[in-house]
Amino acid sequence: MEYPRLSADPFHLAWFLQGSSVQAWNQDWTGNIGTDWMSADMFLDLARALDRAAFDYILLEDSIYIGQNWQNSREIFLKNGMSVPRQEPSVIASLMVAATRHLGVVPTLSTFAYHPYLTARIVGTLDQVSGGRAGWNMVTGSSDYSGQNFGLDRLPEHDTRYTMAAEYIDVVTQLWNSWEPGAILANQETGVLIDHTKVHTIDFQGDYYASRGPLNSGPCPQGRPVIAQAGGSARGRQIAGRYADTIVAHPKGMDAMKQYRTDVQTHMVEHGRDPATCKVLFMAYPILADNAAQAQERADNRRISAARNMDARLAQLGWTINIDFSTFDLDAPVGELSTNGHQSSLAGFLRKAGKNTLREAVIDYTSMGACIDLVGTPDAVAGQMAEAMQEVGGDGFLIALPNVSRRSVAEVTDGLVPALQRRGLVRKQYEHAHFRDNLLAF
Ligand SMILES: Cc1cc2nc3c(=O)[nH]c(=O)nc-3n(C[C@H](O)[C@H](O)[C@H](O)COP(=O)(O)O)c2cc1C
Repeated sequence: MEYPRLSADPFHLAWFLQGSSVQAWNQDWTGNIGTDWMSADMFLDLARALDRAAFDYILLEDSIYIGQNWQNSREIFLKNGMSVPRQEPSVIASLMVAATRHLGVVPTLSTFAYHPYLTARIVGTLDQVSGGRAGWNMVTGSSDYSGQNFGLDRLPEHDTRYTMAAEYIDVVTQLWNSWEPGAILANQETGVLIDHTKVHTIDFQGDYYASRGPLNSGPCPQGRPVIAQAGGSARGRQIAGRYADTIVAHPKGMDAMKQYRTDVQTHMVEHGRDPATCKVLFMAYPILADNAAQAQERADNRRISAARNMDARLAQLGWTINIDFSTFDLDAPVGELSTNGHQSSLAGFLRKAGKNTLREAVIDYTSMGACIDLVGTPDAVAGQMAEAMQEVGGDGFLIALPNVSRRSVAEVTDGLVPALQRRGLVRKQYEHAHFRDNLLAF
């Protein structure tokens, strides 16, 4: 069968894993995840499936605390396995690179929780053991609860966190550069392993961080592992435009997507960068089925389930944007809200909510914050994705499923991806050994 070849350029795919955690607790087709989660088998199967489907990367989301944004209690989070238990992403990332051959692997390491030297070392080591496939999702954290696990009363103010992050990235980058190319000689005749004149201290003394260097873990195959960033606020976009190799974003609707991309590209140019060197991926939650009616039924069921589990949905939203909604009137308009947490996530929610009540707004708001609706058969959804990329001029999608199971993963990797490949919209195989080279290949 001939599939219509749309004129959209090929685009990239990445996967957003909501933490190394009990995925989709108590939902259909999740096997024995309630008892199996500790082994990471599910995540390794996922990583292998993405490698087979030639995804660019998997991003491992992380939060370093147990939610308490509902009636000031951890009960609802623990009872429903919401973002808990959460395993250390760098450990899971190490297992993933061992289980795959080409996939980029991007753990999240928060700036307040890891010293920059430690981040440079963890991500640098991951780059080495993976043969140049490591990335780092740079986040600044958003909840005071997470700060309190590290002895801080509260996290710094939102924009200050980004000012600190810029300095943090400078330290990490300088540490990665503390080994000049060619420093490792491994010359058995002279007996010299490392040319000591090519390994340097960085002697960094900033406003927030200090580090002497050099990085003792040695040089990275990619030189600088890939930096991913997700900040959507004005400050977040500036930092992304300055440093990120890939940006994962969730503006709502085509106009907002277009505007987001233009904005970060403008910041890139301001910093002397070529906009083609950073790939902006938009969050998507494809709802797939064998025919259109079934897919629509699945989409409707999600709304019905949101209406039935309002407390849990609100608690999860509150966890994301750092607000305790438990005392809010569900049937009153959402109104004005503010946060020291993820500001653009809150802004996106408020924009979508409009004059709706909180109840209506939560039902409408997919918890994953997808940019556009994608509902249908694999072929129909492939067409919808192509149209979106043509319209937005984007670089691709970050697939985020709220119902991760081996079945839902297969629907994407073995259903949707082949449909995209048949249209020439995504790669069939990797061209390069290194993550960044694949990311920048088109
Ligand atoms: C796709 C995506 C993934 C994210 N992953 C994480 C994460 O793992 N940990 C975290 O603390 N924040 C994460 N965030 C939140 C961002 O780092 C950022 O705080 C958020 O997008 C709001 O940005 P803003 O504060 O600039 O508005 C993620 C956001 C998006 C859109």
